[in-house]
Amino acid sequence: MISYVFPAGEEHKTLDTVRKLYETLILARFDRNDYLVALGGGVVGDLCGFAAATYLRGVSFIQIPTTLLSQVDSSIGGKTGVDFDSYKNMVGAFHMPRLVYENISTLLTLPDEQFSAGMGEVIKHGLIKDRAYYRWILENKAGIWGRDTALIEKLVLISNRIKRDVVEDDPKEQGQRAHLNFGHTLGHAIEKLKDFELLHGQCVAIGALAAMYLSCRRGMLSMEEVEEYKNSLAAFQIPSSVSGLSREDVIAATKNDKKMDSGVIKFILLHSIGDAYTDRTVTDEEMGEALEYVLAR
Ligand SMILES: NC(=O)c1ccc[n+]([C@@H]2O[C@H](COP(=O)([O-])OP(=O)(O)OC[C@H]3O[C@@H](n4cnc5c(N)ncnc54)[C@H](O)[C@@H]3O)[C@@H](O)[C@H]2O)c1
Ligand SMILES: [Zn+2]
Repeated sequence: MISYVFPAGEEHKTLDTVRKLYETLILARFDRNDYLVALGGGVVGDLCGFAAATYLRGVSFIQIPTTLLSQVDSSIGGKTGVDFDSYKNMVGAFHMPRLVYENISTLLTLPDEQFSAGMGEVIKHGLIKDRAYYRWILENKAGIWGRDTALIEKLVLISNRIKRDVVEDDPKEQGQRAHLNFGHTLGHAIEKLKDFELLHGQCVAIGALAAMYLSCRRGMLSMEEVEEYKNSLAAFQIPSSVSGLSREDVIAATKNDKKMDSGVIKFILLHSIGDAYTDRTVTDEEMGEALEYVLAR
């Protein structure tokens, strides 16, 4: 067995790191009968998966995700890739791991902030797909935040099933896989403008709040439902508002989002809690109103 270790952080999810990994593999005479194992968070999984997709036109790989986000989200579904200059996930490939092995005891050493970010995506799974799961998360928020083993086991399992079912149904994101982008149009824009001061999953949770408000304005959710979600975020150390941004800047930042389809934003809304859909009619005015709800003065 050989190992290749690189420094932590998104700034190392680059072609340069992949180059050094290829070099290590070549020097070790790594061939098609060998396989790569990604042990770490989403950065390691995405980068190692991309190397596996491209080295010798593709070798097998296994995911062993160690963060909450990578266990419930990035290790499942076969999206791999790296960043290019300031463009996130600009270079990549679809390449399915042979196996995803998850040991939840790795989560015990995870910093709170990282756990919080993972929870943003976990709650999203309930909101888009499974109302009962969403209710269960809210009812058990203290225990989940306390990383109670039995609760975390159930949580990781249900979130895994949701992500798996969605990607199996639509591996190339031509339909319902896009629902996983719930909260991401505005969340990404906020993430970019805050200069990565908040973690991705936390921005997604705030984007989801704005999207719920928008769904409420269209008569699909009640204000009580929106506020219940908003008030639950504190239990996971997720802020329910962001300061220092103008709605104009956030809207402008959504325009160069990858979730555009020939110039039209594919916005994900909720018919009801647990039932997401893609909407191509969301106007800048509606986004502005929804942002007003989450932007603090
Ligand atoms: N491929 C996909 O479908 C997909 C989906 C979502 C996100 N992503 C990608 O995932 C990445 C984010 O992943 P992440 O949130 O896991 O971040 P990460 O990989 O940067 O890990 C976060 C930090 O936690 C540390 N860490 C990892 N495991 C730990 C443990 N058990 N205990 C203590 N510290 C630990 C890491 O060293 C790092 O410092 C982004 O690059 C994002 O683009 C990919
Ligand atoms: Zn995300």
